[in-house]
Amino acid sequence: MKLSKRLLTVASFVPDNSFVCDIGTDHAGLAIYLQENLKNVKVIATDINDNPLNIAKKNIQKVGLQKEIKVLKQDGIKNLDKKVDTIIIAGMGGILISEILNSPKDLENVKNIIVAPNNEFPLVRKMLFKLNYTIERERIVIDNQKSYLVIKAIKGKSSKIDYLFGTLKANTLETIYYYNNLMNTNRQVLKKMPKKYFLKRLKLKHENKKIKKFLLSKEKNVK
Ligand SMILES: C[S@@+](CC[C@H](N)C(=O)[O-])C[C@H]1O[C@@H](n2cnc3c(N)ncnc32)[C@H](O)[C@@H]1O
Repeated sequence: MKLSKRLLTVASFVPDNSFVCDIGTDHAGLAIYLQENLKNVKVIATDINDNPLNIAKKNIQKVGLQKEIKVLKQDGIKNLDKKVDTIIIAGMGGILISEILNSPKDLENVKNIIVAPNNEFPLVRKMLFKLNYTIERERIVIDNQKSYLVIKAIKGKSSKIDYLFGTLKANTLETIYYYNNLMNTNRQVLKKMPKKYFLKRLKLKHENKKIKKFLLSKEKNVK
Protein backbone atom coordinates (compact mmCIF):
# COMPACT_ATOMS: atom_id res chain seq x y z
CA MET A 1 0.00 0.00 0.00
CA LYS A 2 1.37 3.41 -0.97
CA LEU A 3 1.35 5.88 1.92
CA SER A 4 0.38 9.52 1.42
CA LYS A 5 2.95 12.27 1.98
CA ARG A 6 1.05 13.11 5.18
CA LEU A 7 1.30 9.59 6.61
CA LEU A 8 4.93 9.24 5.53
CA THR A 9 5.66 12.39 7.54
CA VAL A 10 3.80 10.94 10.53
CA ALA A 11 5.85 7.73 10.19
CA SER A 12 9.10 9.72 10.10
CA PHE A 13 8.23 11.14 13.55
CA VAL A 14 7.89 7.68 15.16
CA PRO A 15 11.04 6.52 16.97
CA ASP A 16 12.59 3.07 16.56
CA ASN A 17 12.28 0.75 19.58
CA SER A 18 8.80 2.04 20.42
CA PHE A 19 5.55 0.35 21.36
CA VAL A 20 3.03 2.16 19.18
CA CYS A 21 -0.74 2.41 19.10
CA ASP A 22 -2.20 3.83 15.87
CA ILE A 23 -5.57 5.14 17.03
CA GLY A 24 -8.19 5.42 14.28
CA THR A 25 -6.07 3.23 12.02
CA ASP A 26 -8.78 2.85 9.31
CA HIS A 27 -6.97 1.01 6.46
CA ALA A 28 -3.95 0.22 8.72
CA GLY A 29 -1.59 1.55 6.03
CA LEU A 30 0.46 3.44 8.60
CA ALA A 31 0.55 0.53 11.05
CA ILE A 32 1.83 -1.79 8.29
CA TYR A 33 4.44 0.74 7.16
CA LEU A 34 5.73 1.15 10.72
CA GLN A 35 5.95 -2.60 11.27
CA GLU A 36 7.81 -3.04 7.98
CA ASN A 37 10.18 -0.08 8.25
CA LEU A 38 11.01 0.67 11.89
CA LYS A 39 13.55 -1.16 14.00
CA ASN A 40 12.35 -3.16 16.98
CA VAL A 41 8.84 -1.75 16.90
CA LYS A 42 5.63 -3.20 18.31
CA VAL A 43 2.42 -1.95 16.67
CA ILE A 44 -1.20 -2.06 17.79
CA ALA A 45 -3.85 -0.75 15.37
CA THR A 46 -7.17 0.38 16.85
CA ASP A 47 -10.40 1.86 15.59
CA ILE A 48 -13.82 2.56 17.06
CA ASN A 49 -15.74 1.33 13.99
CA ASP A 50 -16.19 -2.20 12.65
CA ASN A 51 -15.89 -1.35 8.95
CA PRO A 52 -12.40 0.15 9.15
CA LEU A 53 -11.35 -2.64 11.52
CA ASN A 54 -12.35 -5.27 8.96
CA ILE A 55 -10.48 -3.43 6.19
CA ALA A 56 -7.46 -3.09 8.50
CA LYS A 57 -7.48 -6.82 9.25
CA LYS A 58 -7.72 -7.71 5.54
CA ASN A 59 -4.85 -5.38 4.61
CA ILE A 60 -2.68 -6.74 7.43
CA GLN A 61 -3.42 -10.31 6.33
CA LYS A 62 -2.53 -9.44 2.72
CA VAL A 63 1.01 -8.60 3.82
CA GLY A 64 1.19 -11.48 6.28
CA LEU A 65 1.65 -9.36 9.41
CA GLN A 66 -1.33 -10.69 11.39
CA LYS A 67 0.99 -12.13 14.05
CA GLU A 68 2.92 -8.90 14.45
CA ILE A 69 0.16 -6.23 14.38
CA LYS A 70 -2.63 -6.55 16.92
CA VAL A 71 -5.96 -5.06 15.73
CA LEU A 72 -8.39 -3.94 18.44
CA LYS A 73 -11.75 -2.24 18.68
CA GLN A 74 -11.13 0.66 21.05
CA ASP A 75 -12.40 4.15 21.70
CA GLY A 76 -9.49 6.60 21.64
CA ILE A 77 -7.05 6.12 24.51
CA LYS A 78 -9.45 4.19 26.74
CA ASN A 79 -8.05 0.78 27.83
CA LEU A 80 -4.75 1.45 26.15
CA ASP A 81 -2.24 -1.39 26.62
CA LYS A 82 0.03 -0.37 29.53
CA LYS A 83 3.11 -1.12 27.40
CA VAL A 84 2.20 1.48 24.76
CA ASP A 85 4.68 4.36 24.97
CA THR A 86 3.80 6.11 21.70
CA ILE A 87 0.35 6.98 20.40
CA ILE A 88 -0.58 8.25 16.96
CA ILE A 89 -3.83 10.01 16.12
CA ALA A 90 -3.87 11.12 12.48
CA GLY A 91 -6.35 12.25 9.89
CA MET A 92 -9.02 13.61 12.22
CA GLY A 93 -10.19 17.13 13.04
CA GLY A 94 -8.40 18.99 15.81
CA ILE A 95 -11.50 19.06 18.00
CA LEU A 96 -11.90 15.26 17.91
CA ILE A 97 -8.16 14.72 18.50
CA SER A 98 -8.27 17.06 21.51
CA GLU A 99 -11.33 15.30 22.90
CA ILE A 100 -9.68 11.89 22.51
CA LEU A 101 -6.52 13.11 24.26
CA ASN A 102 -8.30 14.83 27.12
CA SER A 103 -7.97 12.00 29.64
CA PRO A 104 -4.68 12.41 31.56
CA LYS A 105 -5.06 9.17 33.55
CA ASP A 106 -5.02 7.13 30.32
CA LEU A 107 -1.76 8.76 29.25
CA GLU A 108 0.26 7.70 32.31
CA ASN A 109 2.64 5.45 30.35
CA VAL A 110 2.59 7.41 27.09
CA LYS A 111 5.91 9.12 26.42
CA ASN A 112 5.31 10.28 22.84
CA ILE A 113 2.15 11.69 21.29
CA ILE A 114 2.16 12.05 17.52
CA VAL A 115 -0.86 13.82 16.09
CA ALA A 116 -1.80 15.03 12.63
CA PRO A 117 -4.93 17.19 12.77
CA ASN A 118 -6.67 18.41 9.61
CA ASN A 119 -7.62 21.71 11.24
CA GLU A 120 -7.80 23.60 14.58
CA PHE A 121 -4.03 23.41 15.03
CA PRO A 122 -3.89 25.94 17.95
CA LEU A 123 -6.51 23.93 19.86
CA VAL A 124 -4.43 20.73 19.60
CA ARG A 125 -1.29 22.55 20.79
CA LYS A 126 -3.28 23.96 23.70
CA MET A 127 -4.44 20.46 24.70
CA LEU A 128 -0.89 19.05 24.53
CA PHE A 129 0.30 21.89 26.76
CA LYS A 130 -2.57 21.31 29.19
CA LEU A 131 -1.65 17.60 29.38
CA ASN A 132 1.97 18.53 30.22
CA TYR A 133 3.54 17.46 26.94
CA THR A 134 6.21 19.51 25.16
CA ILE A 135 6.21 19.89 21.39
CA GLU A 136 9.50 18.51 20.12
CA ARG A 137 8.93 18.59 16.36
CA GLU A 138 6.32 19.95 13.97
CA ARG A 139 5.84 20.07 10.26
CA ILE A 140 3.16 21.44 7.96
CA VAL A 141 2.38 19.03 5.12
CA ILE A 142 0.44 20.01 2.03
CA ASP A 143 -1.14 16.94 0.48
CA ASN A 144 -3.78 17.08 -2.26
CA GLN A 145 -4.03 20.85 -1.73
CA LYS A 146 -4.97 20.40 1.93
CA SER A 147 -2.82 21.47 4.87
CA TYR A 148 -2.02 19.19 7.76
CA LEU A 149 0.12 19.70 10.82
CA VAL A 150 2.17 16.81 12.12
CA ILE A 151 3.26 17.20 15.75
CA LYS A 152 5.45 15.08 17.97
CA ALA A 153 5.10 15.92 21.65
CA ILE A 154 6.98 14.30 24.51
CA LYS A 155 5.98 13.90 28.14
CA GLY A 156 7.15 16.79 30.27
CA LYS A 157 5.87 20.28 30.88
CA SER A 158 7.10 23.19 28.80
CA SER A 159 7.23 26.63 30.36
CA LYS A 160 5.49 28.35 27.47
CA ILE A 161 3.96 27.66 24.09
CA ASP A 162 2.80 29.73 21.14
CA TYR A 163 -0.55 28.24 20.11
CA LEU A 164 -0.51 29.90 16.68
CA PHE A 165 2.97 28.87 15.51
CA GLY A 166 4.14 26.21 17.97
CA THR A 167 7.76 25.45 17.17
CA LEU A 168 7.40 26.21 13.44
CA LYS A 169 9.71 28.60 11.67
CA ALA A 170 8.96 30.32 8.38
CA ASN A 171 11.68 28.35 6.64
CA THR A 172 9.81 25.81 4.54
CA LEU A 173 7.64 26.52 1.53
CA GLU A 174 4.79 24.49 3.03
CA THR A 175 4.77 26.52 6.27
CA ILE A 176 4.87 29.80 4.34
CA TYR A 177 2.05 28.60 2.06
CA TYR A 178 -0.11 27.59 5.04
CA TYR A 179 0.28 30.88 6.94
CA ASN A 180 -0.22 32.97 3.78
CA ASN A 181 -3.47 31.11 3.20
CA LEU A 182 -4.54 31.59 6.81
CA MET A 183 -3.86 35.33 6.55
CA ASN A 184 -5.91 35.55 3.32
CA THR A 185 -8.76 33.55 4.86
CA ASN A 186 -8.76 35.88 7.88
CA ARG A 187 -8.91 38.88 5.51
CA GLN A 188 -11.92 37.40 3.69
CA VAL A 189 -13.67 36.69 6.99
CA LEU A 190 -12.97 40.24 8.20
CA LYS A 191 -14.44 41.68 5.00
CA LYS A 192 -17.75 39.91 5.63
CA MET A 193 -17.89 40.23 9.42
CA PRO A 194 -20.16 43.05 10.64
CA LYS A 195 -18.43 45.83 12.63
CA LYS A 196 -20.47 44.99 15.75
CA TYR A 197 -18.32 41.87 16.32
CA PHE A 198 -15.63 44.14 17.61
CA LEU A 199 -13.68 41.64 19.72
CA LYS A 200 -13.72 38.88 17.08
CA ARG A 201 -12.52 41.39 14.49
CA LEU A 202 -9.77 42.58 16.79
CA LYS A 203 -8.62 39.00 17.40
CA LEU A 204 -8.38 38.26 13.67
CA LYS A 205 -6.55 41.52 12.99
CA HIS A 206 -4.12 40.74 15.80
CA GLU A 207 -3.59 37.21 14.42
CA ASN A 208 -2.85 38.61 10.96
CA LYS A 209 -0.34 41.06 12.41
CA LYS A 210 1.46 38.16 14.10
CA ILE A 211 1.40 36.09 10.89
CA LYS A 212 2.78 38.99 8.86
CA LYS A 213 5.65 39.38 11.32
CA PHE A 214 6.24 35.60 11.27
CA LEU A 215 6.38 35.54 7.46
CA LEU A 216 8.74 38.52 7.36
CA SER A 217 11.10 36.58 9.63
CA LYS A 218 11.59 33.91 6.99
CA GLU A 219 15.16 32.91 6.57
CA LYS A 220 16.94 33.52 3.30
CA ASN A 221 17.53 29.83 2.66
CA VAL A 222 14.01 28.55 2.34
CA LYS A 223 14.12 24.74 2.16
C1 LIG B 1 -10.32 9.71 8.43
S1 LIG B 1 -9.86 8.23 9.21
C2 LIG B 1 -8.11 8.48 9.39
C3 LIG B 1 -7.38 7.21 9.15
C4 LIG B 1 -5.87 7.25 9.33
N1 LIG B 1 -5.51 7.45 10.73
C5 LIG B 1 -5.25 8.32 8.47
O1 LIG B 1 -4.67 9.25 9.01
O2 LIG B 1 -5.34 8.21 7.23
C6 LIG B 1 -10.43 8.39 10.86
C7 LIG B 1 -10.59 7.05 11.56
O3 LIG B 1 -10.72 7.29 12.95
C8 LIG B 1 -11.69 6.44 13.48
N2 LIG B 1 -12.14 7.04 14.76
C9 LIG B 1 -12.95 8.10 14.95
N3 LIG B 1 -13.11 8.34 16.26
C10 LIG B 1 -12.38 7.41 16.93
C11 LIG B 1 -12.15 7.12 18.30
N4 LIG B 1 -12.72 7.85 19.28
N5 LIG B 1 -11.36 6.09 18.62
C12 LIG B 1 -10.79 5.32 17.66
N6 LIG B 1 -10.97 5.55 16.34
C13 LIG B 1 -11.76 6.57 15.97
C14 LIG B 1 -12.73 6.32 12.38
O4 LIG B 1 -13.51 5.15 12.51
C15 LIG B 1 -11.84 6.31 11.15
O5 LIG B 1 -11.50 5.01 10.75
